[in-house]
Amino acid sequence: MIYSRIIGTGSYLPEKIVTNADLEKIVDTNDEWIQSRSGIKERRIAADDQFTCDLAEQASLKAIEAAGIKSSDLDLIIVATTTPDQVFPSTACLLQQRLGIAGPPAFDVQAVCAGFLFAIDVADKFIKTGSARCALVVGAETFSRIIDWTDRTTCVLFGDGAGAVVLRAADEPGIYSTHLHSDGKYKDLLCVPVGVSRNFKQVNSGSAFTTMEGGEVFRWAVTAMSDIVDETLDANRMSRDDIDWLIPHQANIRIINAVGKRAKIPPEKVIVTVERHGNTSAASVPLALDEAVRDGRIKPGQNVLIEGFGGGFTWGSALVKM
Ligand code: UT7
Repeated sequence: MIYSRIIGTGSYLPEKIVTNADLEKIVDTNDEWIQSRSGIKERRIAADDQFTCDLAEQASLKAIEAAGIKSSDLDLIIVATTTPDQVFPSTACLLQQRLGIAGPPAFDVQAVCAGFLFAIDVADKFIKTGSARCALVVGAETFSRIIDWTDRTTCVLFGDGAGAVVLRAADEPGIYSTHLHSDGKYKDLLCVPVGVSRNFKQVNSGSAFTTMEGGEVFRWAVTAMSDIVDETLDANRMSRDDIDWLIPHQANIRIINAVGKRAKIPPEKVIVTVERHGNTSAASVPLALDEAVRDGRIKPGQNVLIEGFGGGFTWGSALVKM
């Protein structure tokens, strides 16, 4: 049996910090509301000349270095993003060129805030079936580009960033299991309602913006991300005590706390970055993973349950031995 194992992590945040006080100057909001309703204190926003692939490249270089491999060792590149640099080629192809690699498959997956989980699932299957031996999996977003900065109900919540992991084939886990779900009937609750094939003029004029029914999304995110903890543990005949760390998608501290409570994972085992990153969509989980690996909380051999939830709806998890 072949398994895939995370052998290196990396992440990158743009330099520009936007605090809640900064947002008070552009919309009718205040630090107290933002912190008490979401837990967010600040977020990073990409520079005007910085694009998703730039963020992905920086995160990838760090993951490659941490893995102790050369870019040429990679035989698969998957980028999870909802904010690609171009309509095509994929951000993964742009990243491949930056990394100086030619030949191996490179493609994007789009599952919004659950995108990294979908990308990990695909890469894991490539490795398990012997189609790849060393994969780069990235979650990267410039979500600020699809935010209406006059809409206080959304603009206070999101940020930009990227996280990456290198997966390599191994004789033992590694990734124990992955679990993915989607339900398109909730497509209107969290979306950008225009695209390339539909009302492209709005995209062209820079007014393709995220809309969200916050309360509904909140309830669904809590249910889906706590239920999938049970699904993941059951699939591996493990108990909560076998989990060293839970890394949920970082959208809102109240969602994270509610998931921990409902899933009966104590707060000291839950990694939280939302206060400094905001919601970075597909980047949120690999960013939090890299931070906790680098600051020494997550140690080799520990079991980490990562999970995401996003527009679609889409949701997923992976149970990983580091
Ligand atoms: O990545 C997955 C996608 N995203 C999420 O998971 C986010 C899910 N939803 C949420 O995180 C929360 O629902 C929000 C943070 C978006 C909102 O929190 P809430 O507790 O559901 O507040 P609410 O929407 O019920 O709004 C309460 C009030 C409203 O005023 P009224 O109608 O009660 O007078 C809003 O207009 O707060 C008002 N409000 C604000 N006030 C100050 C909404 N946004 C703001 C704001 N500043 N930025």
